[in-house]
Amino acid sequence: MKKLLEVKDLVQWFDLTTDLIDRIKFRAGKFTLEKKHVNAVNGVSFSIGKGEVFGLVGESGCGKSTTAKTIARIFEPKAGEIRYRGEDISKYGYRELLPFRRKIQMIFQDPYASLNPRQKLADIISEPMLFHQVVQDQKEAEQRVLDILEKVGLNREHATRYPHQFSGGQRQRIGIARALAVGPEFIIADEPVSALDVSIQAQILNILMDLRDEFQLSYLFIAHDLSVVKHISDRLGVMYLGYIVETGGKDYIFQNPSHPYTRALFAAVPTIDEEVATTATELKGQVPNPIDLPSGCCFQARCPDVRGVCYQEKPPLKKIDHDHYVACHLVASK
Ligand SMILES: Nc1ncnc2c1ncn2[C@@H]1O[C@H](COP(=O)(O)OP(=O)(O)O)[C@@H](O)[C@H]1O
Ligand SMILES: [Mg+2]
Repeated sequence: MKKLLEVKDLVQWFDLTTDLIDRIKFRAGKFTLEKKHVNAVNGVSFSIGKGEVFGLVGESGCGKSTTAKTIARIFEPKAGEIRYRGEDISKYGYRELLPFRRKIQMIFQDPYASLNPRQKLADIISEPMLFHQVVQDQKEAEQRVLDILEKVGLNREHATRYPHQFSGGQRQRIGIARALAVGPEFIIADEPVSALDVSIQAQILNILMDLRDEFQLSYLFIAHDLSVVKHISDRLGVMYLGYIVETGGKDYIFQNPSHPYTRALFAAVPTIDEEVATTATELKGQVPNPIDLPSGCCFQARCPDVRGVCYQEKPPLKKIDHDHYVACHLVASK
């Protein structure tokens, strides 16, 4: 499959010490200047093919949103490559990025936060169309708004309403409509159903999958548990403390979850195979603080099988099957 997006060794951190005074530390009889970083994304690599859904999963705080926003160039990447159709867009400036800003759209967990409460739905959806000049004039925009509303299961009466007049599920439909308005190729959906009731979740997922078929869209689909990505992903990445610890085809991972962290995530999914359930271990504690990264394996503090080598060496992603890679010292490579 031809690659639409390739992310290579992506790094993102946030500087926590913006004041000079906070940086000055007195150690061993000397004043030194120190920086404190939150290491949110620590060398993440994956690729997404045309029409493919790549599910990115991991607990809250593991760096999923930061990865997403860095790919969308909402944050400047600190290091690494973001190749879109082979072109590295990681260092592009405003003008060079404009066409990619149209092709790559984001959908957020809470669309309400990004909707202007004083704008009617028709204006919310037509604004990006006019900005990116996908329509010639207001009249064409109005027609296109109605077409798009229908695609996401809203109707023409909704066009004159304001964001507060919609339910949570309807607002997510608006978020999808706005992304769709500019004719994107690639959609980054950051936990788009996490805040919704289960029955509404299914409706939104169905819309996203119907749109994929109709427009050959590709998705980076982010979720904090495996049950959501199970049905819609072609491939998966499991993230922990800013690292991808397991990745590959969905079936490989679901049939043979190999990283102890992935197995622990499976333990949290209620409806799974018997076989997986018996090998899964319940996960205790939380993702460690990304300010002080451990040397060695990122999962050492919570791993039930931790050994000496796990404290000393960082395990690389090793191939264990045709499309299955795991970063764990205890898993043999193929
Ligand atoms: N703007 C920011 N400034 C400082 N730290 C941040 C910022 N955004 C995220 N972080 C930190 O980066 C880490 C990863 O966060 P995030 O990408 O939001 O994780 P996730 O989406 O998986 O829940 C967390 O420790 C979070 O506190
Ligand atoms: Mg997030």
